[in-house]
Amino acid sequence: MMRVGLLGTGRIGSLHAETIAAHPASVLHSVSDIDSESANILAAKHNVDAKPADEVISDPNIDAILIATSTDTHSDFIEKATSEGKAILCEKPVDLSLNRAKECLFNVRASKDRIMIGFNRRFDPNFAQLKKSLDSDDIGKRELLTITSFDPTPPPISYVKKSGGLYRDMMIHDFDLSNFIMDELPETISAVGHSLINPEIGLEGDVDTAVVTMVYADGKIAVIKNSRRAVYGYDQRIEILGSEGLLQAENITENSVVKSTKAGVLSAKPKYFFLERYIDAFKAEWDAFVRSIHYDKPVPVTLEDGVAALALAEAATQSQKTGKSVQLKEIF
Ligand SMILES: NC(=O)c1ccc[n+]([C@@H]2O[C@H](COP(=O)([O-])OP(=O)(O)OC[C@H]3O[C@@H](n4cnc5c(N)ncnc54)[C@H](O)[C@@H]3O)[C@@H](O)[C@H]2O)c1
Repeated sequence: MMRVGLLGTGRIGSLHAETIAAHPASVLHSVSDIDSESANILAAKHNVDAKPADEVISDPNIDAILIATSTDTHSDFIEKATSEGKAILCEKPVDLSLNRAKECLFNVRASKDRIMIGFNRRFDPNFAQLKKSLDSDDIGKRELLTITSFDPTPPPISYVKKSGGLYRDMMIHDFDLSNFIMDELPETISAVGHSLINPEIGLEGDVDTAVVTMVYADGKIAVIKNSRRAVYGYDQRIEILGSEGLLQAENITENSVVKSTKAGVLSAKPKYFFLERYIDAFKAEWDAFVRSIHYDKPVPVTLEDGVAALALAEAATQSQKTGKSVQLKEIF
């Protein structure tokens, strides 16, 4: 049985606590958060102790650490937990700074097979099926990838301030998905982004609406579209055109009932947000982590994957600021 210490008891930490507790081969051992009220509430719910992070990390009765704290703490916690010999699942992104993330990767390189980054979308059953189909050569050579990722509503400004901006915080998922789907990194990245939804996001120097175009060595193209607001729900779609056909992964709706009348055809909205839409993906992600550590196999989403996605985010951030394309080799 894997005994797990959870750092961060906010939105995603609370969800991970449920997933850890529900898995037959893991148990939640203790939790930590600098917000002691939040930590105590989650600890009481799961009947475990709330302790300072250092005590959780150094506890010999804990086998694995799940890091779900704010992004600016991730590299430090990865290094500390590695030095205590723990297996780690760390939420995305690895860090706010690409250089710090690279340094972290260097410092923990001997343990990298036991450090997984939480790119949960790879574990979404539909996206995983799309990738399987591509790898089986069902649509021939990959040519044009389009990823649409719109949140239903922007996060609070307090979150935006610590997030590192849309490219590092939100589009990072899509950068990882494009790396996963294309099986290689792009050569050039061009980004345009604006603050159209909430002027306060713009005042923080961030954007809420953005499009990135990436071009690969052989000329194939990926386009990622992000918005922090879609009034109809969480819009999560992938489309890839290949030399022999097209693969599409559509939204998952709240139910499958379609009403057709003289007025038109009406179906349910997409599932509201990531907690609803990706619940199966989070469970599959955790299961993959537990199995990797149990069977002493390398984790399926590595710290290198996390650093690569962050490099694309960094390139996109630079491109948006300068209005010019960025060659990935200039920064990575
Ligand atoms: N995989 C996903 O789909 C997904 C979704 C949401 C968030 N995330 C990531 O998870 C992380 C947390 O996001 P969230 O939405 O849960 O944020 P949140 O603000 O709800 O929770 C973060 C928690 O970390 C705590 N914290 C901050 N610094 C700490 C420290 N030094 N020690 C202990 N606790 C500390 C905060 O008090 C807070 O309770 C972020 O890195 C975010 O990018 C991933």
